[in-house]
Amino acid sequence: MTKTLLLLPGDGIGPEVTAVARRVAGRLIAQGLALQVEDALFGGAAIDAEGAPISDETIARAKAADAVLMGAVGGPAWVDQPFDNRPEAGLLKLRAAMNVYANLRPARCFAALADASSLKRIFVEGLDIMFVRELTGGVYFGEPRGIETLENGERRGVNTHVYTSSEIRRVARAAFELARTRKNEVVSAEKGNVMEAGLLWRAEVQALRDAEYPDIKLSHMLADNMAMQLVKNPRQFDLILTDNLFGDILSDQAAMLTGSLGMLPSAAIGAAGKPGLYEPIHGSAPDTAGRGVANPSAAILSFAMALRYSLGRADLADRVEAAVSAALDAGARTPDLGGTMSTAAMGDAVLAKLG
Ligand code: NAD
Ligand code: IPM
Ligand code: MN
Repeated sequence: MTKTLLLLPGDGIGPEVTAVARRVAGRLIAQGLALQVEDALFGGAAIDAEGAPISDETIARAKAADAVLMGAVGGPAWVDQPFDNRPEAGLLKLRAAMNVYANLRPARCFAALADASSLKRIFVEGLDIMFVRELTGGVYFGEPRGIETLENGERRGVNTHVYTSSEIRRVARAAFELARTRKNEVVSAEKGNVMEAGLLWRAEVQALRDAEYPDIKLSHMLADNMAMQLVKNPRQFDLILTDNLFGDILSDQAAMLTGSLGMLPSAAIGAAGKPGLYEPIHGSAPDTAGRGVANPSAAILSFAMALRYSLGRADLADRVEAAVSAALDAGARTPDLGGTMSTAAMGDAVLAKLG
């Protein structure tokens, strides 16, 4: 049966990099993959055309699709929008509506890129870390939130970092299940030394491990120490479990271990059988948007994750990942990797290896 991929190009370099992912999908479709690719407006592009960063219709289409692949949203044109109507608010609304609470962010250093990192080769060669980031809770969604003016005229900004035990347990379960397909090791990050919600996080993760995953080696690390350990000795980690905010920050940091932020894909997964949301971890890169030089690898690899986790085609995911790796081996490089290739030329190089 033909499956549906909803493509949400978004803003800035989003449309540039998803155009390449679409070509990769097109090649596989031409070779027999039963997939229909559809489009919808998202982010600033949707604000300009429809007044809101994501319409109810687009949310309904995302929930009805087999997988959703997005580029990136946001940019200087929309920073003066009311906070709830900003492109980023649309992304949070989509993640919540799809209930994709487990965000898989693999940070893998491709062999050819061991010298592209700002860290020495001896630290990053062979690096393969999987982040499992909680995606629909924590300080991103907690209430109360807002900016208020106090009686003395001062203004007060409020966000609430909040987690329930079930929110912690479902993402920890996703991490433990994934760990069983890797090295049976999980390091969980929080700041239980200063945050009660961090203390609960640690306790719930440990309790689930003790009750149901005794085969998993679980350790806990304070998130600030993890930031340091990630640059001191990143290969000590196999699978890292974090909350929403720490996962956002630590995964951007880990991206540089792989050579560039333009290399890192992600998969956001919810309940079994529901569609996943696939996106590069990078943003709309307003500093380079429009020049056609963005690295499309993260978008291509995000499509590969969609093949693996939502479209039931791990075989094709392997092929797409191997094609990216082979293109890099052959010297294909966009400027972020120290090369001169355009986004489209990098796409050509990957397609040539895909066959
Ligand atoms: P960014 O990730 O867009 O860019 C950070 C730096 O990395 C920039 O120098 C950029 O040029 C570079 N970069 C990012 N992706 C690249 C790629 N594929 N190839 C080459 N270089 C790349 O982060 P930012 O500048 O802090 O944010 C810009 C906008 O993007 C903001 O509005 C932010 O909210 C939004 N954002 C969106 C998402 C998303 O849609 N998932 C993610 C992060 C940031
Ligand atoms: C990411 C982004 C988003 C996040 C923003 C744009 C809402 O930084 O996907 O990493 O913070 O989750
Ligand atoms: Mn981020």
